[in-house]
Amino acid sequence: MHPNSLSKYRPFPAISLPDRTWPDQTISRSPIWCSVDLRDGNQALPQPMSIEEKIEFFELLVRIGFKQIEVGFPSAADTEFNFLRRLIDENRIPEDVTIQVLVQTREHLIRRSFEAIDGAKRAIVHIYNSTSPLQRRVTFGDASRESILQVAVDGAQLVKDLAATIPETEVILQYSPESFSDTELDYALEVCNAVIEVWQPTLAKKMIVNLPDTVQWTTPNIHADMIEWMGRHLNQRDAVILSLHTHNDRGTGVAATELALMAGADRVEGTLFGNGERTGNLDIVTLALNMNSHGIETGLDFSDLTDIRRKYERFTRLMVPERQPYAGELVFTAFSGSHQDAIKKGLDRREKEAAGNPGLVWGVPYLTIDPQDIGRSYEAIIRINSQSGKGGVAYVLDREHGFDLPKSMHPLVGKHIYDLADEHGRELTTDEIREAFFEHFVNVESPLAVTEYQLVHKPGGGHVHCDATISLAGTIHKIEGDGNGPINSFVHALESVDLKDFKVTDYRSHAVQGGSDASAAAYVQLQHEDGRLLWGTGVDSSIEMAGLKALVTGWNLLR
Ligand code: KIV
Ligand code: ZN
Repeated sequence: MHPNSLSKYRPFPAISLPDRTWPDQTISRSPIWCSVDLRDGNQALPQPMSIEEKIEFFELLVRIGFKQIEVGFPSAADTEFNFLRRLIDENRIPEDVTIQVLVQTREHLIRRSFEAIDGAKRAIVHIYNSTSPLQRRVTFGDASRESILQVAVDGAQLVKDLAATIPETEVILQYSPESFSDTELDYALEVCNAVIEVWQPTLAKKMIVNLPDTVQWTTPNIHADMIEWMGRHLNQRDAVILSLHTHNDRGTGVAATELALMAGADRVEGTLFGNGERTGNLDIVTLALNMNSHGIETGLDFSDLTDIRRKYERFTRLMVPERQPYAGELVFTAFSGSHQDAIKKGLDRREKEAAGNPGLVWGVPYLTIDPQDIGRSYEAIIRINSQSGKGGVAYVLDREHGFDLPKSMHPLVGKHIYDLADEHGRELTTDEIREAFFEHFVNVESPLAVTEYQLVHKPGGGHVHCDATISLAGTIHKIEGDGNGPINSFVHALESVDLKDFKVTDYRSHAVQGGSDASAAAYVQLQHEDGRLLWGTGVDSSIEMAGLKALVTGWNLLR
């Protein structure tokens, strides 16, 4: 911001609550959830949803596990009204799901809302009016505190009267002092208590007091103070469900909600992926999965988050950002080498420790949850670009393609692949990584290639005779040699054409797990007489031929 502009702004006043208790609380149980996707979310869309899309979205919310769903503002538009009528008339509302309708505290709108809910088994009628000094002054033309309080009281009374006319529908009152976030606390309390006084909730028939963080003006701790203060002072607190409705103007919707839950709130309103006016409402996906990541059951099922995200993107025509917690395309992807290394170690170790121990506590560096728990796969965890480390490439070759490279081979292969990514100026796919690995480190056949071989294992222990045909710089040679194993006998055979400027210093082999076109991989480390060490890799359906090809590859790479 331009420094000259700062004089326009003021600090937000703190709340005097020296005996606040919320900082010492932990969140140990789930709140009541209410989705406002079909209302606050929908009203913030450049292209609002059609009735068919709303029906599909409603069904998605039900499948996720929401038991309270704000279905719209039926008195505001025919689409909203007709959508709700279809839900009711077509019996689409499950027994255990309660619909919620939003309405301003104005008589004709409340009456129209009652027409909209007619025939529903249960409905939350959510009335609101704006209470903040800014709104009283600017929007309502210097309206007095008393007049605004009276609007709330009259609205509550009308809902009470109309509820009595539809005894087949259980009506639950919800009242929101809209813009609670910048309303004087004593006044917000006065208005809420006046509404409670009208409704007369009981333990068996509670009402909801919703305290909207309509616009986030301040930090989450002050919001938590406001919620704790209200919770302490509300009349008939036991008969009141204290509800949160946080927006995200300062980017702290989730934090503000978490602290306010610690401050005693019982219920949370929000949307999937934080859709909503301006910077959005609270992101319920993040909040619920944060709870899951601490072992708390939420009643919401995000085990196939990718599918939920796709549907959400189709309905809303919005995109979930790549860095969105839990749901973003890149959030289980490590580009940095040291992160990749640590994740690989963590996953490998967990695989070993989890065998026979299904309750093993999660603990993998950089991964707050197991991506599989929300339907994401390990395959996407590590992607390679020029910032990646040696562990990342080895991880991809191992997990995706079944090649368990010797550790001392990682730096060279890693460097080659990162240089390639740098050259392309982008990350490489796992298939491109395999291709580049094969092209440069596997079965290299020039200038030396082995075209045929026969190994005869002599009886009586450890003696092998090798007959082979090789091509050296285009010339074919038939060679033979003896040794205590296939590699050793081939090394001696190579001596007959004067290829003896190296020695074999290490050898590994394994079956290729999950590979499609080969069944064995061998790695041979050669040391040139000038001291250089280098690994060659051979891949073949025969483990012996894989070993010879690895040796030949190593020799070629030393040239
Ligand atoms: O943000 C808000 O204050 C609202 C109210 C209508 C609850 O959406
Ligand atoms: Zn809102």
